[in-house]
Amino acid sequence: MTSYTVNGTQLAVLERGRGLPVLLVHGFPLNHTMWDEQIEVLSSDYRVIAPDLRGFGRSGVTPGKVTMEQFADDLAALVDAMGVGEPVVYCGLSMGGYIGWQFWRKYAARLKALIVCDSRAVADTPEAAANRLVLADRVLGEGPGVVAESMMPRLLPASTAQSRPDVAQAIGRMMTGNDPQGIAAASRGMAERPDVTALLPRIRCPVLVLVGELDVISPPAEMRSIAAAIPGSRCVEIPGSGHMSPMEKPAQVNAAILEFLAGVRRSGTATGF
Ligand code: MLT
Repeated sequence: MTSYTVNGTQLAVLERGRGLPVLLVHGFPLNHTMWDEQIEVLSSDYRVIAPDLRGFGRSGVTPGKVTMEQFADDLAALVDAMGVGEPVVYCGLSMGGYIGWQFWRKYAARLKALIVCDSRAVADTPEAAANRLVLADRVLGEGPGVVAESMMPRLLPASTAQSRPDVAQAIGRMMTGNDPQGIAAASRGMAERPDVTALLPRIRCPVLVLVGELDVISPPAEMRSIAAAIPGSRCVEIPGSGHMSPMEKPAQVNAAILEFLAGVRRSGTATGF
């Protein structure tokens, strides 16, 4: 991995391949390795850029709170620092999707296309936001194991947990390997993320919405309604997958992403392809 100093922090990023840049943005509280299967396949034809967000993996940690907008600012500064001159395809999972909406809102000119995997457009309910603040405090007091314990049952359906223990273990390692301060800061940032539902009809770049059939955090019906609100977008449901579709069903996810990217390359930034 290479390291860049942007916005007063150090960001670690894996870069592989050449061509249209594809920025892979991980979920909470993970790191870039959740995209290993996509990095492997996409880098044959695309310039894959897979950072660890501020506070995660090998990147620098900022205590307190990191908003979705701050993460988006970091990513824009990162691609600048890397000398990526052309607009990127942004692909984010869950929290990576929340950040993606902010990246579109502030940096639309740098966005060629958007892929939103297993994510949401609505804000947290007051109760969910309060729970995130409690979780932030608990992580600081008890360590990252508490977040792994509370999230794991909702991340993977029983079928995946049983058939792919390697996926469950990899997620557990990512979670417990993160700094409690980084986890707490992102948790507080997610608690106050804005509802972007009203903005969705204004998105004009090509958009692919991907969702696991069994995702209970960002369920298919909710993701289908996100896709329905974005002109010309496409929604692909991944059979048998939960929230972590890129890890659970990499072949199906890669096929959907590759088909979408081929369309983006063919038709530039036009919607409705
Ligand atoms: C994620 O996968 O990034 C989280 O499930 C996001 C969240 O907690 O809302």
